[in-house]
Amino acid sequence: MAAIAKSGVNPLSEILLDRETIQARVRALGSQITRELAHTPLCIAPLLDGGMIFAADLMREIDLPLTLLPLKASSYGDGTISSGSVTLPWGVPESVRGKELLLVDDILDTGRTLQTLKEQLLTAGALSVRTCVLLRKEYSKGLPADYIGFDIPDKFVVGYGLDLAGLYRNLPCVGIPKLESE
Ligand code: IMP
Ligand code: MG
Repeated sequence: MAAIAKSGVNPLSEILLDRETIQARVRALGSQITRELAHTPLCIAPLLDGGMIFAADLMREIDLPLTLLPLKASSYGDGTISSGSVTLPWGVPESVRGKELLLVDDILDTGRTLQTLKEQLLTAGALSVRTCVLLRKEYSKGLPADYIGFDIPDKFVVGYGLDLAGLYRNLPCVGIPKLESE
């Protein structure tokens, strides 16, 4: 596991997306969802923990009646490489039955999290499951999501919900974390 820079005012070595850029894109996604899902009784399902910041901003840009159903998924452990297995520590709630869900996550990396969740939610009786991610990495470009904020390079990133060992989720921008050796 990569060591985190212990101190320093700026924990990032590079900013990829600043606050204003993210805000503008989230606003545009909200308008698109408002137009396209106007006749769908929408239930927003943020994937905790990473998707909560994005979902909180996105849902305030959607001008439709909607409900909220947070789901918990976990795949990364404390490192910068996906552990390869997705766990759903809260299970799948029975209340997904009959819902038209929009899964909201921070990033599409291997795609396993959204794929696993989608299958389980449909099996549990969800009527439909759409997906929305803020970020998609270069090597995931072939992977589908209904709504995508930004395509980014194949770098481990933090901020705006994304963490490294639990840190940096509260940064208003998305960037590449400094490592101790830098
Ligand atoms: P996937 O299942 O491989 O698509 O991974 C999705 C999950 O891994 C996301 O919800 C994130 O929590 C985490 N993840 C993937 N890439 C990054 C990254 O660059 N920084 C922080 N977390 C990441
Ligand atoms: Mg994470």
